[in-house]
Amino acid sequence: MEAFTLFQKMSLLEPAVFVTATCLILSLTYGLYNLYLHPLAPYPGPILYSAYRLPYVITNIRGKLPFRVLDMHRTYGPVVRIAPNELAFTSPEAWNDIYGLQSDRVQNPKDEQAYTPGANNDSRETKGIVNANDVQHARLRRIYGQAFTQKAIEGLGDMLVKYANLLVEQLSLAIEKDDVQDLSAWFNYTTFDLTGEFSFGSAFHCLDSGGKSHFFLDTVLAGVVVGCQIWQLERYKLLTILQPVLSLFAGEAIKKQEMMGRYTQKVVDARLEEGYQVGRKDVLNYLLQNKKEEDQLERAELYENALTLVVAGSETTATLLTGVVYYLCRHADVLEKVQKEVRGAFEQGGEITPASVNELEYMIAVLAETLRIFPPSGFGFPRLISSKGGQSVAGGWVPEGTRCSIFHHAAYRYDEYFARPEDFVPERWLVNAPSEFKNDKREVVQPFMVGPRGCIGKGLAYAEMRILLAKMLWHFDFELADAAKQWHESLRAFLIWERTPLRVRLRKVQR
Ligand code: HEM
Repeated sequence: MEAFTLFQKMSLLEPAVFVTATCLILSLTYGLYNLYLHPLAPYPGPILYSAYRLPYVITNIRGKLPFRVLDMHRTYGPVVRIAPNELAFTSPEAWNDIYGLQSDRVQNPKDEQAYTPGANNDSRETKGIVNANDVQHARLRRIYGQAFTQKAIEGLGDMLVKYANLLVEQLSLAIEKDDVQDLSAWFNYTTFDLTGEFSFGSAFHCLDSGGKSHFFLDTVLAGVVVGCQIWQLERYKLLTILQPVLSLFAGEAIKKQEMMGRYTQKVVDARLEEGYQVGRKDVLNYLLQNKKEEDQLERAELYENALTLVVAGSETTATLLTGVVYYLCRHADVLEKVQKEVRGAFEQGGEITPASVNELEYMIAVLAETLRIFPPSGFGFPRLISSKGGQSVAGGWVPEGTRCSIFHHAAYRYDEYFARPEDFVPERWLVNAPSEFKNDKREVVQPFMVGPRGCIGKGLAYAEMRILLAKMLWHFDFELADAAKQWHESLRAFLIWERTPLRVRLRKVQR
């Protein structure tokens, strides 16, 4: 009887054992194939990352991928296999090879599995400039490009000064009540207000309401983080059956994203109602001026791109500014030097203008060093190698279909390219840099990327960062309120850093 029951149990178990054993054998075979027979098998990398995509996905969801990739480069060298079909590079030539436009090969499209879902398919669904495929993108870039020419950015001088002054005024009032303020939040208010006026024709009024956030700002960062995590899971088609469960978790984020969409429509509609106005400098004013039929955008395209511009332009610049304050506070000698330069250059705050700040050589070096040690995105933005048969990247042959990127955080701290790569040393960027930095490979630092899909807002970002930092340094003394906190080191890294509050004690400089 007992033997019969055991037999019954076994026959019930058998299919489960069979299925488990088959899955194990298949995944082992798949891993062995990737390690020994895959075209990328000759490239070095950690065994588990080279055999399976899962370690990459888990590290990415945890917000640790850029840190891990730096470790890998330090162990395996300038080219490393970070997933079965993906390579990360550090060398400066790789920028052009992967992201640039060259006559002898096709443009490598964005990898839609990594960070731009829906990019590169030809669906007619409306796409923003970041998610558009390369053909749609060329048209959008041409149309939006007119609002980003050097002349157009120079024309934004008054707007930049207005928001820099507003930041100083409101922060001065706030420190009368509490001398410790979260500068991460204040920089967010400033860059969102400024980029809102530039892209929507209307600010979020965070600054002039005395430093109050707006739901739009709170949604952006949370949305990017949840988005990055869900896109990773979507690599596994089987997991799509979990979509309803995932949507439950992301329910709140999705609701807020929809609110953002509706808000954008409302402000863009209101701005379009006002029509073209001579002298206004917002992006929509440029578009309203267009007469050519092929340059006319549909409403849905206007909404999508206005949203894209605000998201792409605000978080990044606020992140850099928060980072620069953090690194200055941790390096008293650098802070003292840059304060001396800025305070010595101007007698009145009103002399600080977008033009005059371009003369501040040391402050510009401080910003360059912050872009190296704390690039607003530490991630690698992968491109899909698409030339028939493959192409050369940094002197080595890479097969077609391989995903390739340069992780900003990893390349900029790679020991072979920089003397004392972990140290914050603005002097390395000076024309007469000390001799120990003479061999630094500065050209590897490309935080705005290169090629046709590099940052359209680079000129505006520099103008914004320079005037905002100069005003802050001229008007305030500052020190970290939590001196021991390793702020940058404790952040999680997704497409952008998941910025946490930076509490700084401020004192108005008395003159
Ligand atoms: C420190 C500040 C900034 C950094 C580090 C930065 C960085 C980047 C990077 C790395 C990309 C390429 C992303 C990709 O390959 O998918 C990019 C694209 C873009 N950025 Fe920026 N950005 C900054 C500021 C701005 C500003 C101020 C604006 C505009 C107001 C802006 C608008 C855009 C847009 C629209 C794109 C997409 C361009 C295209 O696909 O043609 N960015 N940015």
